[in-house]
Amino acid sequence: MKKIAIFASGTGSNFDAIVEAIEAKKIPASVELMVCDKVGAKVIEKAQKKEIETLTFTAKEYASKADYESMLVKELQKRGVEWLVLAGFMRLLGPTLLEAFPHKIINIHPSLLPKYKGKEAIEQAYRAGERSVGVSIHYVDEGMDTGELIAQEAIPLTGRESLDEVKAMIHQVEHRLYPATLAKLLKQ
Ligand code: GRF
Repeated sequence: MKKIAIFASGTGSNFDAIVEAIEAKKIPASVELMVCDKVGAKVIEKAQKKEIETLTFTAKEYASKADYESMLVKELQKRGVEWLVLAGFMRLLGPTLLEAFPHKIINIHPSLLPKYKGKEAIEQAYRAGERSVGVSIHYVDEGMDTGELIAQEAIPLTGRESLDEVKAMIHQVEHRLYPATLAKLLKQ
């Protein structure tokens, strides 16, 4: 049983998919903390419903990234957290967090990396007329969506889908692929 923390800034649909897979005993883990950097984010309500402790912080209230990351490292270590699972966390991690959890931080990104890193990845791929989009899960390093790949799944498109349809297809794959990948990774 691995102790994990989920980092999220937004809607939290991946957060829910992971927590539900844990509840169904498909992932050998317990969520010790949900870390959020956006006051009022929807994921906070989702964590409350699941009775998962939430730590919300505002980066600009700290003098530096190293300062708030040191606070986070302390809070995570206090709870015995071993793995950090980023699910829509919109902030690059710095050396303080990366060095405290070497090779134990993973992220999901809605593109076939190394294509379309960063924000609005789905829109970028859609506008480029890609006939193959997808989802990537990777270890986190100091770059933006640059760490070593763990899993990837492609979704073929006909070219007739609307942007909303493509987004829905991608999220559907995310909600299956992230829990399945975590299940394998955390069993080790
Ligand atoms: C997902 O598309 C994920 O790949 C990206 O941010 C989005 C988060 O969505 N990193 P949600 O908050 O899990 O609904």
